[in-house]
Amino acid sequence: MSAKRPSGNVTFDNRDRIVIVTGGSMGIGKAIADAFVQSNAHVYVADVKSPSNEELSDNPDVTYMHCDTASAADCKAVVKKVIDEQGAVDVLVNNAAIQPPASYHPIDRVPPEVWQRMIDVNLCGYMRMAAEVLPYMQQQQAGVIINLASGQAHRTAREVGVYGPIKSANVMQARQWGIEYARDGIRVLSVSPGAINTPMIQASVAEQGGVAALGNRHPIGRIGEPCEVASAVLWLTSDAASFVTATDLEVDGGLGAFGSFAEPYPMPR
Ligand SMILES: NC(=O)c1ccc[n+]([C@@H]2O[C@H](COP(=O)([O-])OP(=O)(O)OC[C@H]3O[C@@H](n4cnc5c(N)ncnc54)[C@H](O)[C@@H]3O)[C@@H](O)[C@H]2O)c1
Repeated sequence: MSAKRPSGNVTFDNRDRIVIVTGGSMGIGKAIADAFVQSNAHVYVADVKSPSNEELSDNPDVTYMHCDTASAADCKAVVKKVIDEQGAVDVLVNNAAIQPPASYHPIDRVPPEVWQRMIDVNLCGYMRMAAEVLPYMQQQQAGVIINLASGQAHRTAREVGVYGPIKSANVMQARQWGIEYARDGIRVLSVSPGAINTPMIQASVAEQGGVAALGNRHPIGRIGEPCEVASAVLWLTSDAASFVTATDLEVDGGLGAFGSFAEPYPMPR
């Protein structure tokens, strides 16, 4: 057989599009922000983490805004600034979410202030941002909203009794909002990653048996990279996905298809 086969390539053109990415300072959100910038969009990153001077100078096409998505005032201020400066908003990526180590317990052992904060950020934050942009998207009769959900939205696991159900709600938010606003030219979708190599997953990888064991649980044999989730988001927010709305895309190396009764893969030597 000949050497490596061509794998195909897609180039996105997001020139003149105005994109908001919550939690875009690191991890999956940063990869999404970078991918939009590389395809010539103007990106607003709304994050609790302030950018370093290096990040500011490296990314002139990104406007960083301090925003805690648990704060209604912060979410309103982000969208107001975008509209004041650009007069439009084309894409909202609801990505900012937390999974604190103190949440990795059965729910009777998760402190109320921890699960309340997760609800405020992971559930209400998505709703706040969407409610702020939707009136402008309706006026434009155009727009796309992506909710970052998770494989844990679709199936159970031990010790994610707070995180998992909220991620399920993110999928249903996208389906509900997707049908509600479809006649306004607005598409709403969720993306459900498997384990992706980000600070969030690095914080818990040891408890999950290490990176090799975690990767081996995915049929593809490895965990994903943030840019692989970003590619899915770029496709879903592009016109190439113009008939795709109110649904979820699992970007998970086949993890979701792996039935709980299936034999685990042997660890590679
Ligand atoms: N990493 C994974 O394996 C994985 C798997 C499935 C789903 N997800 C989902 O993907 C999204 C991104 O995950 P990640 O791994 O990149 O996370 P991460 O922890 O690496 O990064 C999250 C970003 O969100 C920001 N953020 C946190 N709280 C915020 C708030 N209240 N307001 C604004 N910004 C805030 C952080 O500062 C950070 O920049 C999340 O919705 C997560 O649930 C991640």
